[in-house]
Amino acid sequence: MSTLSVREATRRATQRVKHSDIEPPKDRNSTIARPPGISSLGLIQGFRKGPDVLDLFVADAKRHPTLSHTRLLGEHLYFLNSPDAILTVMHTHGKETIKGRGLQGAKALLGNGLLTSEGAVHLRQRRLVQPAFHRDRINRYAEQMSELTVIHEREWQDGKRVDMVQDMSALTLAIVGRTLFGSDLSGDAGRVGEALSTVLEGMGQRLIMGPAALRIPSPGRRKAVMAAAALDEVVQRLIDTHRAGGDQDDMLSMLISAQDEGSGMTDEQVRDEAMTLVLAGHETTAMTMAWGWLMLATNPVARTWLTDELDQVLAGRNPSMADLDSLPRTRATIAEILRLYPAAWVMGRRLLTDVEIDGWQIPRGAICLASQYVQQRDSRWWDQPLAFRPQRWLTTDGDFDETAPGQPRGSWFPFGWGNRRCIGEAFAWTEAALILATLGQRWTPQLVAGQSITPNPMVTLRPSPALPMTLTRR
Ligand code: HEM
Repeated sequence: MSTLSVREATRRATQRVKHSDIEPPKDRNSTIARPPGISSLGLIQGFRKGPDVLDLFVADAKRHPTLSHTRLLGEHLYFLNSPDAILTVMHTHGKETIKGRGLQGAKALLGNGLLTSEGAVHLRQRRLVQPAFHRDRINRYAEQMSELTVIHEREWQDGKRVDMVQDMSALTLAIVGRTLFGSDLSGDAGRVGEALSTVLEGMGQRLIMGPAALRIPSPGRRKAVMAAAALDEVVQRLIDTHRAGGDQDDMLSMLISAQDEGSGMTDEQVRDEAMTLVLAGHETTAMTMAWGWLMLATNPVARTWLTDELDQVLAGRNPSMADLDSLPRTRATIAEILRLYPAAWVMGRRLLTDVEIDGWQIPRGAICLASQYVQQRDSRWWDQPLAFRPQRWLTTDGDFDETAPGQPRGSWFPFGWGNRRCIGEAFAWTEAALILATLGQRWTPQLVAGQSITPNPMVTLRPSPALPMTLTRR
């Protein structure tokens, strides 16, 4: 637990949430024509029920194939329902947008790190953090990823029942902890994992409410702000020991020593970036892997197709970074998991300029939403969209093609678009491929009988209510 009082922790979280690098403009146009779309009430009910909101978004894209509009909590929301519309906002006008209001609430934990900062501040921070993701660094992290996966595998026993969401979260937290903080996190892993889950659960319901959520006292708010304060203390301690101990060859050392035009980051900026990387780097990959085990358990043809490759290329030894180019089916399997179950299932942008789409003028201040979940399951772009078919990602020569051969640009974007595209993309591909290849060659986890698992759109797309699986040796 944190040593701060609830009052002080709430004050600190509120201060972070209130901060904006660019004051969000409001769309107050009352006379402008807007396209039709979901009713406000329908949207609120959909968000309340969780999974229903996904169906609502999918149905909206069917009815309004390019653009639709609704109002929520005083905001004008536009749904970008085609790849062209998404690219226009996220790519062409990406630098003339800021994030939507959902992430504003996430500042309570993340402060003003890469996910939440804007404009010149974001650009500078992105430049400072980028070296931590260079290819030679990823090579180094890959060794640690492999080692930690093998250590994790020692906990897997034939017939053991696990909640795969928790199991994969523990593994990816260990990986991000080691690569970011060196070995330092090990003692705090349990505490950090628990605090992160509390904050994520607390944030899930608050996504659409943004900053307003912190003004309403509730046991959930209390738990979330205290967990955020506890995390603050862990990260601050790690910064202190790193500053005292010099370069420890991990991401935190790089953040501390990064310089732009002669100046580096303050402790607060380092904290915010570290917290952002822990959260963005572990939850997304964990959910991707959890969905992956479910897909392989329920699609035996795809599973055999994958294990044939693993048996042939690895022949029982553990994979390394050097093997990844020889594992196109492994990469195709990950691409297909990300297509059907994108951990980041929706992205929001507030316009800083007017944008025209399909003859409609979307005013400055409006919020545009683009959903990976909707586009990546759309039968306009995907043959048998709901089928798990990793084979679709291979060229006729059997090579992996990340552009999804034959699909329009913009129909697959699990890592986002434009200037805010995921900085950890190469890290995530490497990590997911090494975990899948290491464990997948020896294990075929099975879904416990009688379970009905649905995607729950929280901060990430989570298997709900949980993902009980039985670990089974091949
Ligand atoms: C399968 C795994 C992952 C998925 C699906 C994913 C997805 C995304 C998406 C969609 C965005 C853009 C959000 C937006 O534009 O609103 C994003 C941004 C980001 N991701 Fe990832 N991510 C993954 C893994 C990682 C990892 C492993 C790290 C770090 C170790 C990471 C760090 C970040 C950061 C810092 C940003 C903000 C970038 C910026 O705005 O400059 N992500 N991610």
